[in-house]
Amino acid sequence: MAEQVQRQRIFSGIQPTGNLTLGNYIGALRNFNLLQDEYDCLYSIVDLHALTVRQDPTELRKACLRTMALFLASGLDPEKNIIYFQSQVSAHAELGWVLDNFTYMGEMSRMTQFKDKAAKHADNINCGLFTYPVLMASDILLYQTNLVPIGADQKQHLEICRDIAERFNAIYGDVFTIPEGYFPKVGARVMSLQEPTRKMSKSDPEDTYIAILDKPEIIRKKLRRAITDSENSVVYDPENKPGVANLMSIMSALTGRSMDDISNEYSGQGYGKFKDAVADSVIAALEPIQREYERISADKAYLQQVMDSGRERAGAIAHRTMLKVRKKLGIAPWKL
Ligand code: TRP
Repeated sequence: MAEQVQRQRIFSGIQPTGNLTLGNYIGALRNFNLLQDEYDCLYSIVDLHALTVRQDPTELRKACLRTMALFLASGLDPEKNIIYFQSQVSAHAELGWVLDNFTYMGEMSRMTQFKDKAAKHADNINCGLFTYPVLMASDILLYQTNLVPIGADQKQHLEICRDIAERFNAIYGDVFTIPEGYFPKVGARVMSLQEPTRKMSKSDPEDTYIAILDKPEIIRKKLRRAITDSENSVVYDPENKPGVANLMSIMSALTGRSMDDISNEYSGQGYGKFKDAVADSVIAALEPIQREYERISADKAYLQQVMDSGRERAGAIAHRTMLKVRKKLGIAPWKL
């Protein structure tokens, strides 16, 4: 029998804060389904990372479960993929501590996300916020990850992860796989509805994004208010008409229609009609996910089972890496 070839491993983390957006769906979640047959995929809900800013415990707990239910509702198969909570595999925090000792203050101070967040949360510039990228490196390195799907905002963090891994390997030999960024061929980058030169983000104000769970009338209202321009022509020109281009690419991503096709149908009809058509396509795409979400969130036994199995499968892989790390470092061995 032919030997099974080891598949490449993909790891991605998403914070359980705010509401997952249409951008998360089009740019990430939807594509995850295309990866599951070709790669070994882990998707972690990184609840430890969420602690770097103050959270309301009741809200955080809800957001954790909502995120898992949304992963499942978007079609991620929990048997083909490992879906789990970061905090439930204690090796993340352990390896995070270990790697802190291989990371320099200077490196962390240069992280642009740290500088941004420190400015935004000036009253709570804690050590967790500072070492956030080390915990992220642990997430990735624990699983001997080959590929990490990330947006441009996380490139610097992946770079530092590689630096830390190479530094560790240079001292102790080949312990960690050096990960690379994975930039999917398909999947448009969805921009803010109010500032279409910025990425749509769940941590921005409500009217700038569409949440996957937004009700149809809210979706329509937000899209009607989306910033466009004063030209009234539906033409794909991201440079000069970023607002219109964003709405067109949302529609194109969800319906499979080409920009030319969309442009031909809506040009010269005014933005009102076009925006309503975009809303129709968004509502139609999200409606089945919302229905599935309601069904799954009501099924506690199922969620519990997905959670338990994810924790176990992720934990087993992480444990193997930690055994290796322990041995190399010379901290107390697991077995004498
Ligand atoms: N920092 C990432 C973000 O905010 C989330 C994250 C945590 C992550 N750990 C990760 C992403 C590991 C990829 C791999 O988007």
